[in-house]
Amino acid sequence: MCGIIGYLGKKHPKDVLLSGLKNLEYRGYDSAGIALINKDTTQIIKSVGKISELEKKINSTDLINSNVGIAHTRWATHGEPNEINAHPHKVGKITIVHNGIIENASTLRDSLIKEGVEFNSSTDTEVIAALLNKYYKDNMEDAINKTIKAIDGSYALGIICDDEPDKLYAVRCESPLIIGIGKNEYFITSDIGAIISYTRKYVLLGANEIVSIDKDGYKITKDNKEVIREVNTSELTSESADLMGYEHYMIKEIMEEPVLVNNIIQKYKDNLDKLPDVKKYKHIHIVGCGSAYYVGMIAKNFFEDDGLDVQIDVASEYRYRNIKYNKNTLVILISQSGETADTIAAMRKANDKKIDTLAIVNVDGSTIARECTYKVLIEAGREVAVATTKAYILQVLLLSLISYKINPDKEYLKDLVKLPSQLKVLLDKTGFHKKLADKVYRKNDVFFIGRKIDYAICLEGSLKLKEVSYIHSEAYQAGELKHGTISLINKGTVVFAIITDDDIRDKTISNLEEVLSRGAKAIYIGNKKEKYRNKIIVPRIHKKLQPLLVVPPLQLISYYVAYKRGCSIDKPRNLAKSVTVE
Ligand code: F6R
Repeated sequence: MCGIIGYLGKKHPKDVLLSGLKNLEYRGYDSAGIALINKDTTQIIKSVGKISELEKKINSTDLINSNVGIAHTRWATHGEPNEINAHPHKVGKITIVHNGIIENASTLRDSLIKEGVEFNSSTDTEVIAALLNKYYKDNMEDAINKTIKAIDGSYALGIICDDEPDKLYAVRCESPLIIGIGKNEYFITSDIGAIISYTRKYVLLGANEIVSIDKDGYKITKDNKEVIREVNTSELTSESADLMGYEHYMIKEIMEEPVLVNNIIQKYKDNLDKLPDVKKYKHIHIVGCGSAYYVGMIAKNFFEDDGLDVQIDVASEYRYRNIKYNKNTLVILISQSGETADTIAAMRKANDKKIDTLAIVNVDGSTIARECTYKVLIEAGREVAVATTKAYILQVLLLSLISYKINPDKEYLKDLVKLPSQLKVLLDKTGFHKKLADKVYRKNDVFFIGRKIDYAICLEGSLKLKEVSYIHSEAYQAGELKHGTISLINKGTVVFAIITDDDIRDKTISNLEEVLSRGAKAIYIGNKKEKYRNKIIVPRIHKKLQPLLVVPPLQLISYYVAYKRGCSIDKPRNLAKSVTVE
């Protein structure tokens, strides 16, 4: 949550910071702000709402001359999203931006108040700024070291100081932060995507390592000893962070799916040895949050069909469960960002017990990618829209391939190579999906029903719809509806029935009939023609690939419904792309 960018170089920081913030806006968009510094002044400009609001304010302000600045886009944790609570925060000589949560902030605040500090905001960030200011004599590293010893929690901090206007400092623990290396210019940022149009070279900052940057370069220290870290080159291109003519990232990212799916198929279909050998484990635990958890629900069905014993949990529950691990266990962590706080905690719980962990992850270099025993990168490129689409699809594909490796069968391979073109044909039917969206966008309540893998698909279809369109939606195991929830089915209630599994087809059809006889408007999605008026018929394909042809139409329908309702599609209210707090 929250995005940080900082700049030191020959340019005026304004444009770099604003373009960086626009790229980081997916991490939170309650409020935003920038701070610029020169030897006479530290200028802070903040605003509530999206970056466009901040931009308007900046453009109507006389900016100081400067070569150093920090900026922040916020997803509120401590304190409501207003201008006072927006970052940067300045206390005395110190101005900072912060991503993370300080758990002992209120105790620290109380003792600082007793020492005479006056606080303006209700943020934990202002407490950090006050501590830095208290400890700062003339050595910033020293002040940072004392401050990080006093605070508990997660933090990535960008720091500037009135007494050192030519310098930029940063430190991190738990929350991500990297150093971007340009030509005579340096950046700090939560995400390489924010600086990719300036440089692809970056350095990862380890936990509690402090970087100090000036025009001659950067130096990393930990406990006052210098640390040398390798310079990496990002594969990301500036196009991948561009809309490329699409109106929203969500639709752009859905439309990228056939190519990305094809890339993964070409990479692995004849090289299964590159994928982890899950067969050697007797027990599989699958853990993730939100859509990543729903990917896990699909994978659970794959692995159970392969004869493995599978448990699945959302990470926020798993991390607090009493689990008796068996040595023959593999814990699979599914995460697009690789920075989801609960999923990281779940991973560390298993790592601490010396249980093997496998990351199915998009962002290389992220905490989960770095700390798992094994990793498989899903290679989705940058996913900007807050609601995941292409990353979900690639996670399912990779887990399907891992399952195929356990249990190879010829039919799977035949179907696998057909998948990208079938997906493309489906996605090209935009007019058809728009018409279906017409039937949904005025509704208040929508239900999704299915069984087994189809139920797992329902969960994702329902989440996608509600998060981007704000329509109330629920996914139910088709057989469970009549145990209470069917009382909500009314004349005109939309019910999506997903039926792709022949073994339970007749059962779900009966459940669909039950809701139809209570006045529901059914939308049937399946791989076999049925009598229903509103339907999406997808090509019939191997069971372990079938979700990859059912979920994309649901993503498209969610997009068009949200579009018709005029929603903030790429940045739905209250959400953030990367949930780095508990
Ligand atoms: C929904 C969505 C979220 C994420 C969840 C986990 O569209 O994007 O539910 O799937 O927050 O995030 P990652 O995958 O980054 O761990």
